[in-house]
Amino acid sequence: MRKAHLVAAALTCLVVGAIVDAMAGSVLGHGRRTGLAEAAPAAQNMSLAYFVTRNGSQAMVDGKPFHFVGFNNYYLPTYSPWPQGRTDDVDVVFRDAQNLGLKVMRTWAYSDGETEWNAIQPQLGVLNETILSQGLDYVVATAGKHGIRLVLTLTNCLPSYGGAPKYVQWLGGTSITDFWTRPDIRNALKGYVRSVVLRNNTITGVTYRDDPTIMAWDLVNEPFNPGDDTGKVLTAWVEDMSNYVKGLDPNHLVMVGSWGYFGASTPALLPENPSDVYAVKFTDTVLFPADRICHGEDSSAILSLPNIDIASMHLYPEYWSFCTSDCRTNVNVQGPQTMRANLTERGFLQLCSPDCRLTFLRHWLGLHLQECARIGEC
Ligand SMILES: *[C@@H]1O[C@H](CO)[C@@H](O)[C@H](O)[C@H]1NC(C)=O
Ligand SMILES: *[C@@H]1O[C@H](CO)[C@@H](O)[C@H](O)[C@H]1NC(C)=O
Ligand SMILES: *[C@@H]1O[C@H](CO)[C@@H](O)[C@H](O)[C@H]1NC(C)=O
Ligand SMILES: *[C@@H]1O[C@H](CO)[C@@H](O)[C@H](O)[C@H]1NC(C)=O
Ligand SMILES: *[C@@H]1O[C@H](CO)[C@@H](O)[C@H](O)[C@H]1NC(C)=O
Repeated sequence: MRKAHLVAAALTCLVVGAIVDAMAGSVLGHGRRTGLAEAAPAAQNMSLAYFVTRNGSQAMVDGKPFHFVGFNNYYLPTYSPWPQGRTDDVDVVFRDAQNLGLKVMRTWAYSDGETEWNAIQPQLGVLNETILSQGLDYVVATAGKHGIRLVLTLTNCLPSYGGAPKYVQWLGGTSITDFWTRPDIRNALKGYVRSVVLRNNTITGVTYRDDPTIMAWDLVNEPFNPGDDTGKVLTAWVEDMSNYVKGLDPNHLVMVGSWGYFGASTPALLPENPSDVYAVKFTDTVLFPADRICHGEDSSAILSLPNIDIASMHLYPEYWSFCTSDCRTNVNVQGPQTMRANLTERGFLQLCSPDCRLTFLRHWLGLHLQECARIGEC
């Protein structure tokens, strides 16, 4: 059977009239956009009745193609337990999004650590029920009311809001690689994931697993495993976690919030990977070694996994530079000529004009679509 994937591009740099954070998610079916599958809402309560499924590379709702523009807003579940955050942020964001015709929002369904404000999991394995019911439950319920579907991210490779580095710290690990390889750390994450996926929403009375408001589970935000040029470690982790989530919940699509870096299975595409000015700038040396252009992701290998439904790439062309044939050599800036000029001659930010970003996007997305077709997934 030929299976295929939806492609979601997270454009953190291309703001298209978005609300707070800038992310445009688009599902590319057969290269055309046919409009919104679900009619614009007249009433407040949209009560989404059907799951988003996929038929090959086509997203479907109730037997019809589902096309959407979406946005990223990671912090709503954290603001929501705060009364003012609930009214001034959650309610307003979903109301405005509905008015704009936006259909999908991606947000954090995790937050870990004693010091995090409104942490869902203040200590390992201890969930705060008040925060969950006033936070995530309220966000899911309000999204549904406004006819907006959610991509729920289950943890973060980066340290914001806890995430992988917090699990590593909790369990006495020393590096992000421990997160991908140590069974005790993986089991701790699985315990958390299970609690969320099987949670009964205290506001709607619907288990997350059974709620069509949720479009997809996003296993981890922006994963990387520096130093593993084979990409095998991360791919094995994604395989195991995607199988686990599908096992708990066959109703929802599953994806990874990946950067979209090409890896060992596609050596010819390595020179296309952007290198990372961002990494150098924010010298968080433990988590962002400057060589993470070969940072353990193998986009095609991940896309080939049976329980990964959606391809993802996160684009930061305002930060990236472009490397030459050896993807560890990020000094020699190459790539789309248009970007190169500004990257070599200018400072850090505003390296890339909107036109230049679009040039990069078309090129990068084109390569991903080609690759998706080559491996028989589109
Ligand atoms: C929305 O409307 C449906 C159908 O009328 C109803 O069953 C559901 O409880 C309502 N949901 C909310 C959150 O108001
Ligand atoms: C899925 O797509 C195939 C090929 O485009 C089509 O023949 C089939 O009818 C579709 N199935 C459903 C359930 O829509
Ligand atoms: C849960 O969070 C609320 C709100 O921050 C706090 O008042 C409460 O003490 C927390 N409960 C636990 C068990 O941590
Ligand atoms: C979820 O909670 C609601 C309200 O308490 C209840 O009616 C429903 O049976 C619960 N669902 C499950 C699967 O426990
Ligand atoms: C380079 O930067 C300048 C100033 O920001 C901008 O006007 C120009 O369009 C940029 N060129 C490209 C190719 O992005």
